[in-house]
Amino acid sequence: MEKLIQLAKENIKNSYSPYSKFPVSAILELKNGKIYKGVNIENAAYGLANCAERSALFSAYSDGIRKSDIKRLLVYTDHDYFVSPCGSCRQVMRELMEDDAEIILVNNHDETKVVRNIELLPLGFSKQDL
Ligand code: THU
Repeated sequence: MEKLIQLAKENIKNSYSPYSKFPVSAILELKNGKIYKGVNIENAAYGLANCAERSALFSAYSDGIRKSDIKRLLVYTDHDYFVSPCGSCRQVMRELMEDDAEIILVNNHDETKVVRNIELLPLGFSKQDL
């Protein structure tokens, strides 16, 4: 866990967040130990911002990774409180990660809060509804 937190702290410098000035870093760990990193990437057309969680997941999927390969996702912000994934990320995480995958929120005191993916979006819309 300390290694993942360290990676998240190093990675946050890659955030492109000139508008919100709210950098976020995400570290996706696979069951085989491989790591994918993500940051939030904003745009002058504000609505096009991509969150760190989705950046990490899309990077992994682009490499052929699928939900059964993923162990956990860590989300770090340089604040003394926990920042948890937005609604759009929860929807994407619900589809691209297993229900019981761990989501680890980390603040700038290295404190952690761990939840299961399914807990973040109970009763969510999914492909079973189609
Ligand atoms: N953001 C994330 O990257 N992840 C979250 O969990 C919450 C919000 C980003 C989006 C935007 O670039 C900035 O934080 C402020 O909303």
